[in-house]
Amino acid sequence: MQFSIIVPTLNESQNIDLLLTRLFALHLDPGNFEVIIVDDNSTDGTPEKVRIWTSHANVHLIERRGKPDLTASILAGVAAAHSNAIVVMDADLSHPPEQLLTMVTPILDNNYDVVIGSRYKAGGSTENWPLYRHCLSRIGGWLARSICDVSDATSGFFAFRRELSAHISDKAYGYKILLELLMAGQGKYRILEVPICFRDRMHGTSKLSISHQWAYLQRLMILAGGAINVNTAGRFALVGLLGVFIDAFVFQWLINQAAGLATAHILGFLAAATVNYALNSKWAFRQHHTDCLKWNQFARFLTVGALALLLRGGILALLVYVGHIPATIAIYPAIIATAIVNYFGAAFYVFPDKSNLPSVDIRWRVASIGIVIFIILLRLVYSGLAQLIPDEAYYWNYAQHMDLSFFDHPPMVAWLIWLGTGIMGQNEFGVRIGAFLCGLVAMGYLYAFAYNLYGKSTAMRAVMLLAVLPFGFSSGLLMIPDAPLVAAWIATLYYMERALINGRNSAWLGMGIAFGLGILSKYTLGLLGIAALVFVIIDPTARRWMKRPHPYLAAILALLLFSPVIIWNIENNWASFLFQSTRLLADDYHFSVHYLILHIIIMLTPVGFFAAAFILFSYNPNTQDQYEHRRRLFVQIFTGIPLLIFLILSTFDLPRFHWTGPIWLAILPTIAWMIGQTGDMRVLSSYLRKAWQPTLIICMFIYAFILHYVVLGIPGIPYQIFAEHYFWREATIEIERIVETVQHQTGKKPIVVGMSKWSVASALSFYNQNGSHMDIRSRNMFGDSAAMYDFWFPSQQPTNRPIILVGMKRHQLERNQAGDDLSQMLDQPDLIQYRMIDKHGIPLRRVYYRMAQGFTGKIEAHSLN
Ligand code: GDD
Ligand code: MN
Repeated sequence: MQFSIIVPTLNESQNIDLLLTRLFALHLDPGNFEVIIVDDNSTDGTPEKVRIWTSHANVHLIERRGKPDLTASILAGVAAAHSNAIVVMDADLSHPPEQLLTMVTPILDNNYDVVIGSRYKAGGSTENWPLYRHCLSRIGGWLARSICDVSDATSGFFAFRRELSAHISDKAYGYKILLELLMAGQGKYRILEVPICFRDRMHGTSKLSISHQWAYLQRLMILAGGAINVNTAGRFALVGLLGVFIDAFVFQWLINQAAGLATAHILGFLAAATVNYALNSKWAFRQHHTDCLKWNQFARFLTVGALALLLRGGILALLVYVGHIPATIAIYPAIIATAIVNYFGAAFYVFPDKSNLPSVDIRWRVASIGIVIFIILLRLVYSGLAQLIPDEAYYWNYAQHMDLSFFDHPPMVAWLIWLGTGIMGQNEFGVRIGAFLCGLVAMGYLYAFAYNLYGKSTAMRAVMLLAVLPFGFSSGLLMIPDAPLVAAWIATLYYMERALINGRNSAWLGMGIAFGLGILSKYTLGLLGIAALVFVIIDPTARRWMKRPHPYLAAILALLLFSPVIIWNIENNWASFLFQSTRLLADDYHFSVHYLILHIIIMLTPVGFFAAAFILFSYNPNTQDQYEHRRRLFVQIFTGIPLLIFLILSTFDLPRFHWTGPIWLAILPTIAWMIGQTGDMRVLSSYLRKAWQPTLIICMFIYAFILHYVVLGIPGIPYQIFAEHYFWREATIEIERIVETVQHQTGKKPIVVGMSKWSVASALSFYNQNGSHMDIRSRNMFGDSAAMYDFWFPSQQPTNRPIILVGMKRHQLERNQAGDDLSQMLDQPDLIQYRMIDKHGIPLRRVYYRMAQGFTGKIEAHSLN
C-alpha cells in the first residue's frame, strides 16, 4: 500500500459514484492505494452507495456519528489509513482526480512533506464559482497569507506524510485543516504547490456555511496567537458591557456638570478600565495566568488602554464636531470602537494564551498588522480634526495660485492639495487626504521592496517601522512636500532594486515615472540618481546597464515629467533653481554636523539610529553569497551616498530638520530584517532587538497623545509649547473681529499683513474662509523676502487704507529683517498689542497685532544693500 485517498462526505450521493468511477478509471495499480470515505451521517443514501463499492474495490467506509465536522472526519480517515502518504480531496469532483499522482508522487519520493493543490498559483484556476464565493475565498486566503506563506492555505486538495497530522492542534475544527497542518509545522515543512483547476460542483450543494466562516476566523486568531475562545470571548464581552455602562454613566454625568469633552471621556474611560481590568484578570482571562498581579501584564493593559483611549478622543471629536451628534449619544459608537481595539489588544498582547504562542516570527507579523492598522486609523480619524500647521497652510495657498511650479518647492504638494480640496472641500481633511494616500502608496512600495530583499516577515516589519518611526508617521499625515517625496522615494528604490539587482528591463519604466514624480515633489530625490550612478560604477553586474538604452530612456521620461518645473523656471528667470543653489552657497557659515545627527536621532528614534549605524558600518565581508553581497552594497550605497552628501553640507550649512528623512527608507528593510534575526547573538543587536518593543509603543503613544492634545486637549496640561505657531483657526477669528472693528470705525477695508515669511499670512488665509474676506499680504511689503508672496503680491504702493500687522512674536512687529524700524513705513502706527486666544475658556495662545492708519512705502535703501 503506497497511499491513502481520504474523501470526506456529507450528503454526496449524487457525486460519490462519479468520483469513484473516475478514480478507478485512472488505471492505477489497485494494490497501490486505498480510498477511505469518511461520512458524517449523510441522510441522502451516501453510505449505502459507498458500501456497494467496498465489496469489490479497495474502498473503506468510516461512518461517524455525532456532530459533523470536516477536520474531525479527515483526522478519523488518517487514523484508519494503511499507508504513510495521505491525499485529501472533496467528493464533489471539484478536485480533478487526474492530478492525484502529481500530488502524491513528491510525498512518496520523500522530496516534500506537504503538497498543496493550489488554485492561486500561476496555472491554477477556479471555474463556475459565483462571485461571492470568489470574494470569500480571496479574503480568507488573504487573511491566511498573513501568517502562512503559501498561495492557497485554504485548499481542500492536499497530500502529506501521515505523521504530520499528529502535530495538528487538538482544538482544530472546521473546514481549514490544511491551514492547521501548515501552522503546526512552524515553517519547517518542505512544501510544494501544484496548480490545480477547481471546478464548482455540478450536483448537490456546498456545505460551507456562515458558521464555518466564523469558525475559520476564530481559528485564524488563535493560530496567530490570540487568546480567543468561546469562554473568554463571552466573559470578555460581559465584562465589557459592564464597562460600557460605567463609562457612559460617568461621561454623561460629567458632561452634565459642564466638564469638557476630553475630561469627561477620559475619566469615564478610567473608571470603566479599572473595573474591567480587575474583572478580566480575575475572571475572563483567568485560565492563562496565576492570581498574583503581574506588573508586566498590567503595564501592557495600560498601554493598550491608553492607545485606545487616545484614539477614541478623535472618534468622539469627529462625531461631535464634524458629525454634529450630541456628545451623550456619540459616546456609544466611540466606546464600541475602543472596545474593539481593546479586545484585540487584550487577546494578542495583554492576555495571550501562553500555552499556545506561535513562533516569534508570526508574533511580529501580528504585531505589525495591528500597529499598522492602528496608525492608519489614527491618521484617518485625526487628519481632518487637527488644524493645519503653517507649512500646510502655505502649500494650500500654493494651490490657490495653481501654477506649473513654485519658487521654494516643486509643484506636487500644491497639485495634491488642489485635487484633495477639490474633492473633499476646503478643509483640513481635503488638504491632508493627499498625504494620507501617499502614506499608503509608500507602505505598498516599501512592502514590495522589502519583500524582494528579505521576504514576507521582514516586509511586514518594514511597513510597521515606516508607520511608526517619526519621519514615516508624519509624512503620511502632514501635507508637506515630504509626503509625496517619501512615496516616490520608496517607489524609486523599489524599481532600482528590480532593475539593478534583479535585472528587469521593465523596471526602468516604473523608475522613470517614480523618479519624475519624486523630483516634482522635492529636489532631494535627485540624490538617488547619484547613488544609482555610484552603484552602477561599483557593481560589475549592474554596470552593463550603462551600455543599454533603458536607463537613458528612463532619465528622459523623468525629465519630461519634470518639465513643468523647467518651464516655470524659464518663465521666472531661473528663480527657483537659483534660490536652491544660492542658499547652499550662502556665506553664513555654520558647522552643524551635531545638529544633523541630533535630527537623525529624532527622526529614527535612538534605537533606529543605532540600528542604522550598526548596519551601515558593520559590513560583513566573509559572506560568499553573491546575492547577499550585492544586497548589502545596494542598501549601503542608497543610504550612505545621500547621507554622505548631507554630512558634507552640514559641515558648512544648517540643515533643516526633516531633510534626511527619506534617506533612511533604503535601510528600513534591513533594520526590519535585523529585528527578526534571533540567531544573531552579538550584544548590540540583541539589545536593539529588545529595545524595539518599548520604542514602538512610546512612538505610538506620543503621536496619539499629541493628536488628542491639539484636538481635544489633555486635562491638566495647558497649551503653551509652540502654541503661537498653531491654533490659527481661533487666532484668525480674533483677527477678523479686529478687522471688522477697524473697518467699522474708519469706513475703509484694512490690509492685514502677516509679519513672518509666509506662516502668518498663509494660516490667516486658510482660516479666513468663513468670516468676511480679509485682504492679506505678507511681510515683503516691508522689504523682506517672503517666498511665493513676492510673486503673488510683488509690490505695495503707499496707501491710506488702515494697516493691521499680525505676528506670532512681538519683535516681528517692530523691525523688518534688515533691522529697519517699521514705524517709519507706517502712518500713525499704534503700539504693539496682543490678544489672548482661547477655546471654550481654555487659553490657547497669544496673537500680536499692531494698527496703523496707512502705509508710507517701504524703505528701498536697505533692501538694495
Ligand atoms: N465528513 C464530512 N463532514 N464531510 C464534509 C463535511 C462534514 O461536516 N462538510 C463538508 N464535507 C465534505 C463535502 O461532502 C465535500 O466532499 C467536501 O467536504 C467539501 O465540501 P463542500 O461543501 O463541497 O465545500 P466547498 O466546495 O464549498 O469548499 C471547497 O473549497 C474551500 C476553499 O474555498 C472545499 O475544498 C474546502 O475544503 C475548501 O476550503
Ligand atoms: Mn465543493
